[in-house]
Amino acid sequence: MSPDGGVAVCPGSYDPVTNGHVDIIARAARVFDRVVVGVVDQPVRKSKTLFSAQERRAFLLQATQKVPNVEIDVFDTLLVDFARKHGARALVKGLRAISDFEYEFEMNQLNRKLAPDIESVYLMASPEYSFLSSSGVRELATFGADIKDLVPNGVAQALHDRLSRDSG
Ligand code: PNS
Repeated sequence: MSPDGGVAVCPGSYDPVTNGHVDIIARAARVFDRVVVGVVDQPVRKSKTLFSAQERRAFLLQATQKVPNVEIDVFDTLLVDFARKHGARALVKGLRAISDFEYEFEMNQLNRKLAPDIESVYLMASPEYSFLSSSGVRELATFGADIKDLVPNGVAQALHDRLSRDSG
């Protein structure tokens, strides 16, 4: 697809999607004409995901159904190739704290090296989500904490079911 300045990709593992992710996606959708949420099939630097790519995609579909210019797609390629496939010229990432910066800076440099024509754009996390991460939510759920205010509808129950199944 030819590059279009109005298209952005929001990439991530989304294992699972949190309200913080949804906030970033919705804000990106107010800035760009079209936002493609890229769900990485299996992140290279992380251990095996708790949910399959199709499960993570389904949670995202449900969570973003009211945002018309958002679509969800799974990818198992380089991120910049995925962006090119969708004609995107921007990668949108959320930044929560300085601790995110080092990792994102490295990613930025690698992606820039591979594709200087694709720009990375960073949205600061909204204050109410600045502490929120998928790993934090998974940890809370492991110990039975109430996480329904932290994740979209359906995800809390799915997490609970998955973790109790895995430990059973
Ligand atoms: O939510 P995450 O785990 O921080 O997202 C990581 C993601 C999907 C952005 C990253 O793993 C990724 O870009 N994967 C695709 C492979 C790739 O392009 N790697 C080169 C950049 S280092």
